[in-house]
Amino acid sequence: MRRRAFIKGSLALGAAAILPLNIVEVEASEAQSFTFAFISDAHLQHIKGDSFVQNWDKGLKMAVAECNLLDPKPDFIIFGGDLAQLGKPEELDHGAEILSALRAPVKMMLGEHDYYLDLGEKWGQMFGDHYYSFDHKGVHFVVLNSILTDERWIKKWATPMERMQTMAGLDDPNGSPFMVGDEQWKWLRRDLQNYSDDTPIVVFSHSPLQKIYKGWNFWTDDCERFYDIVKRFHKVNVIYGHVHQIQYNKIGNIAFNSVMSTAWPWPYPDSYKKAGVKVPKMTVKMNRADPFFERDATGWQFIDVHSGRCDLHYILPNNTNRTVAYDFQANRPKNRRYQDCPIPPQHHY
Ligand SMILES: [Fe+2]
Ligand SMILES: [Fe+2]
Repeated sequence: MRRRAFIKGSLALGAAAILPLNIVEVEASEAQSFTFAFISDAHLQHIKGDSFVQNWDKGLKMAVAECNLLDPKPDFIIFGGDLAQLGKPEELDHGAEILSALRAPVKMMLGEHDYYLDLGEKWGQMFGDHYYSFDHKGVHFVVLNSILTDERWIKKWATPMERMQTMAGLDDPNGSPFMVGDEQWKWLRRDLQNYSDDTPIVVFSHSPLQKIYKGWNFWTDDCERFYDIVKRFHKVNVIYGHVHQIQYNKIGNIAFNSVMSTAWPWPYPDSYKKAGVKVPKMTVKMNRADPFFERDATGWQFIDVHSGRCDLHYILPNNTNRTVAYDFQANRPKNRRYQDCPIPPQHHY
């Protein structure tokens, strides 16, 4: 098993520096085990000239450095969206420069902060297709652009920056719900048609492909289309960014896990309880980040997918480490130690 060597490598890194880097191990078969890394939500923010918010820069740079030290080396790295804060060319260029230090192929995904200034034009020129799929060692990977929205909303703003700033606000009531849209759903249906039901499917989306909390756009409005398209597959996993916190869920055959941000954490809103019956209770509460610890409630994790389901091991620099593993008896992901603990212990080093 490569898992043992992998954990050894992970622990060595953990001791050296703690970062919001997400490591995914996939064992499609013993002969085809591989790892990939997941970095998300860098939110690089331009101030003026060549000056950027240093704390956000630092999170991404640390993740890149740690990624380059991984043993085994990841087969590829996925960046999960929100590279920029306000979609500015300076921010995207700056992000591309930092990511260019990565010593493995990089796959890119769009976040709303990258998109709503010029509707993904610059991002597309720099990084390519807004959605795509690829096969890797027996697993089918899909990268969606899940942050699209209603055309009428897009056109109603006086300036592109006004539109961008509205969508960038976490709880701005003038924002609009995210959606994937007809074009991509049709594409996805075609994309999957030649794969057998037992092919492991891993989908990357920026927003959760589920309806968690509309007030903060932790929400994808047309996600039911996705459930229908993938229902014949036995092992479907969605890994998403955007929420900057630990979340997990199971709907039908689909297991959901979120990854952490390299920039800042979002708290759990109490109003999660209004989200409706599809969401299991969010049992692992996260306190508002402590401003005196710049890496508080950020972290990195490795993900073991050898069962075809995702077990996420979160390494959290200023908080107690956690593992969210798939519980086959309960048939859904569970937090191993803090499942029913409303506020798990927090500690600082
Ligand atoms: Fe984000
Ligand atoms: Fe986002």
